[in-house]
Amino acid sequence: MTVHFIGAGPGAPDLLTLRGRDLIAACPVCLYAGSLVPAAVLDHCPRDSRIVNTAPLDLDAIMAEIRAAEAAGHDVARLHSGDLSVWSAMGEQIRRLAAEGIAYTVTPGVPSFSAAAAALGAELTLPEVAQSVVLTRTPGRASTMPERENLSAFGATGATLAIHLSIQNLDRVIADLVPHYGAACPVAVVYRASWPDERILRGTLGSIAGQVDDGIARTALILVGPALAAEGFAESRLYAADYDRRYRPQSADSPWAEWQDDAAPAGGADG
Ligand SMILES: C[S@@+](CC[C@H](N)C(=O)[O-])C[C@H]1O[C@@H](n2cnc3c(N)ncnc32)[C@H](O)[C@@H]1O
Repeated sequence: MTVHFIGAGPGAPDLLTLRGRDLIAACPVCLYAGSLVPAAVLDHCPRDSRIVNTAPLDLDAIMAEIRAAEAAGHDVARLHSGDLSVWSAMGEQIRRLAAEGIAYTVTPGVPSFSAAAAALGAELTLPEVAQSVVLTRTPGRASTMPERENLSAFGATGATLAIHLSIQNLDRVIADLVPHYGAACPVAVVYRASWPDERILRGTLGSIAGQVDDGIARTALILVGPALAAEGFAESRLYAADYDRRYRPQSADSPWAEWQDDAAPAGGADG
């Protein structure tokens, strides 16, 4: 018996991986994390499967579900929104499973920051503008932040920030970031990226508070940084005509020339 943790993606049901879909279809039990997991993803569950919304359950109750599945010899599909590597509560579940000797696998999903960037049609790392993306949040009712992880510290880098779980703290976010990025810095708020009711607000640190209305609550991502509206950025060297690289050696003396006839390996430097 195995518990399969599966990233269910940001909302659109077709942003689920094929592996995730097939695992869901193979598991007689599905535990899913509340309304952020789209109902259409649950359509992949086998008929007669046990499907449980874990939003109202505590960790002990979730473990009781898993133990019951184990006793019946049933694999479990454990769905969380987006990807499992950020704010999924997978870590504490895995710790319990390991302590009880229950096997598990992890299948990644499309994270919400990727879906938000796609909705904006934006590359978050533009040459010479921003080369880092910080996935972060502000403190919430149930979560404190480690002391050194604060918006001021991240803002000092000038990187693109993808601020989760924080739309209710927008005023605080703006106050912390204006000293670093300036009031004219571009901001985008993406509400329910990839859902049918997705909304996109584009503004600046100085204007965005006036644009957000009561309809934008909870499932929204705040993206901040010059990369969001940069136009005059440099082109990457990777595709420059004179750039000497493995797939386009510029001369016989090129260190890459000997590679020219090789079968292309999977994935170049541009990913
Ligand atoms: C508990 S976290 C889950 C993050 C998720 N594991 C991921 O990979 O993105 C929930 C927060 O993620 C963001 N979020 C999740 N889905 C989103 C979506 N479709 N559009 C915008 N933000 C989303 C919001 O900031 C929300 O408050």
